Amino acid sequence: MNKKNIAVFASGAGSNAQKIIDHFRRHAFISVALIVCNKPGAGVTKIAATEGIELLLTDKATLQSPDFSSVLKGKGIDFIILAGFLLKIPASLVEAFPRRIINIHPALLPKYGGKGMYGHFVHEAVINAKEAESGITIHYVDEQYDHGATIFQATCAVTPADTPDSLAHKIHLLEHQHFAPVIERLVADEASGS
Ligand code: GAR
Repeated sequence: MNKKNIAVFASGAGSNAQKIIDHFRRHAFISVALIVCNKPGAGVTKIAATEGIELLLTDKATLQSPDFSSVLKGKGIDFIILAGFLLKIPASLVEAFPRRIINIHPALLPKYGGKGMYGHFVHEAVINAKEAESGITIHYVDEQYDHGATIFQATCAVTPADTPDSLAHKIHLLEHQHFAPVIERLVADEASGS
């Protein structure tokens, strides 16, 4: 099996990044080779240091430069995993990694997606709308926010007692349970040529 390298892009605490690192720690042919972050000092930068994984700090302009995909290819990156990454992925990167960029969104897309819909804002909107259900969506990334084809969804109940914080907790549990195994399936399919 060809070795496959993952880059995890994250802007925040990095709890999903940590789960992904843990999942692939001793994997036969998939490894987390790079963490990309646009927020110096974010929790995920400390995870990279503790885990001894290369950290690449970036910003909007660098991400949008046509050279950015070459930098990633130069580091041998095969897949990009967005785990709470809040900058928009430019078309140049989508074109350089077709169906190789995967995002997790903390709601059931196409509802509660788009610009400004991240983290707490998503959970507040779901609660304000009195939804009975929320969940997670894992999807391919295209040029629009939260828009590419859905790969996987899982749901959880929203009760009248839920607050944005309690809902965030339920959603994180779902993310931590499902994201890494879904990534493994996609990358393994690619590695075996199917
Ligand atoms: C996750 O819940 C992820 O779904 C969300 O950010 C959180 C990051 O948490 N992503 C978005 O809202 C993207 N629109 P983490 O830093 O603990 O992994």
